[in-house]
Amino acid sequence: MHPHLWHPYTQAKTALDPLKVKSGQGVWLELESGKRLIDAISSWWVNLHGHAHPKIAEAIYHQAKTLEQVIFAGFTHDPAEQLADRLIEKLPDNLNRVFYSDNGSTAVEVGLKMAYQYWANLDRPRHTFLAFEGAYHGDTFGTMAVGGRSIFSSVFADLLFEVEYLPFPSTYWGDQTIAQREADLIAQITEKLSQPDRYAGVIIEPLVQGVAGMQMCRSEFLQALRQVTQAHATLLIFDEVMTGFGRTGDWFACLKAKVQPDIICLSKGITGGFLPLSVTICTEEIYKAFYSDNPVHTLYHGHSYTANPLGCAAGLASWNLMQENQASFMGMETQHRQHLEQLQTHPKLEKLRVMGTIAAMDVVTPDRSGYLNQVGAKIRQQAIDRGVLLRPLGQVIYLMPPYCITDTELAKIYETIADILDCLN
Ligand SMILES: Cc1ncc(COP(=O)(O)O)c(C=O)c1O
Repeated sequence: MHPHLWHPYTQAKTALDPLKVKSGQGVWLELESGKRLIDAISSWWVNLHGHAHPKIAEAIYHQAKTLEQVIFAGFTHDPAEQLADRLIEKLPDNLNRVFYSDNGSTAVEVGLKMAYQYWANLDRPRHTFLAFEGAYHGDTFGTMAVGGRSIFSSVFADLLFEVEYLPFPSTYWGDQTIAQREADLIAQITEKLSQPDRYAGVIIEPLVQGVAGMQMCRSEFLQALRQVTQAHATLLIFDEVMTGFGRTGDWFACLKAKVQPDIICLSKGITGGFLPLSVTICTEEIYKAFYSDNPVHTLYHGHSYTANPLGCAAGLASWNLMQENQASFMGMETQHRQHLEQLQTHPKLEKLRVMGTIAAMDVVTPDRSGYLNQVGAKIRQQAIDRGVLLRPLGQVIYLMPPYCITDTELAKIYETIADILDCLN
């Protein structure tokens, strides 16, 4: 371990030394030792088109020679405007205003502030958010507050504002109970939202809860949630930090589910995995509540690197690649399905599921399900030994590869998983 580094989500006392990466190319990472790994998780879900894609690298280089950074208060620039235009053209019609920040947590933090201040600006304050058990929205205080309470945030519990939680209606292959569970949940939500002026908004990771272990829900649930939030005039916030930019098999989960949220938060894949950037996009109606002669109605939020031109240029280049390679992220679900079907009867697996480019399965273990289930660490190490970067979430093995992965490379990941499971005791 380097004497001056502190790594994220890592207990240095028990962790193995980090692997030193020399380079990345396509789906492959090359370590200093000479070993090569297939990046089956797109490096924490950010890398869309493979590592070191020359088109994105070139776009950043050209932008860096023109304008690398400028304050975004009182100034604007082409890359920010063009990326905003692309996003608005593709997203549901009601979403119209793009606010830039620089990571997933801040995108959600801004979304929460927009929702809360929207009601305050209208002089109808609402103080509570509804969120989902198991949710992960980031590591800032606001996003920890709306995240499912867990070991990640327990030490800060006293500092987090109060949030009400609902069970996330997870489903998987062969689940017979989902329609009833969804109906019960919608009834519960309807009852809550019937209380006047209580909830500023409902926040959800649409279609796939990521950190919770790639828990998947149905479009039907999101449609019902939209109906009930609309009927009770409550804002619906989609945290698409992970699901955005093709991950669910369509450009955005909201498009796949055919639901128009009031606010959407995007990051991770936005630059194809090259630079930190994020956006929070809201309806014109929300924007108008801030458009005022009263200075108190201003959204007083901004970061030094807001709308960094290099990030926006990378975002535009990545967007073009998505357009060119639409078939790859739209078609990956079929490939995952074929591989998962082969594993379906494996005695060590249950709850197989797939959503677009994301496939997941639970390993059957005697230990408690969840992030701390140790089988994940064991599988991770065995996968690395076999040349594949996997990072199970507790007992959940998942794949979320870059879109440029070949059939042979994808098959190798599944073969590796099967091999590890066969040897698991
Ligand atoms: C759904 C979701 N929201 C927000 C975040 C936070 O993003 P970041 O790590 O860029 O702050 C994550 C990160 O995993 C996420 O999956």
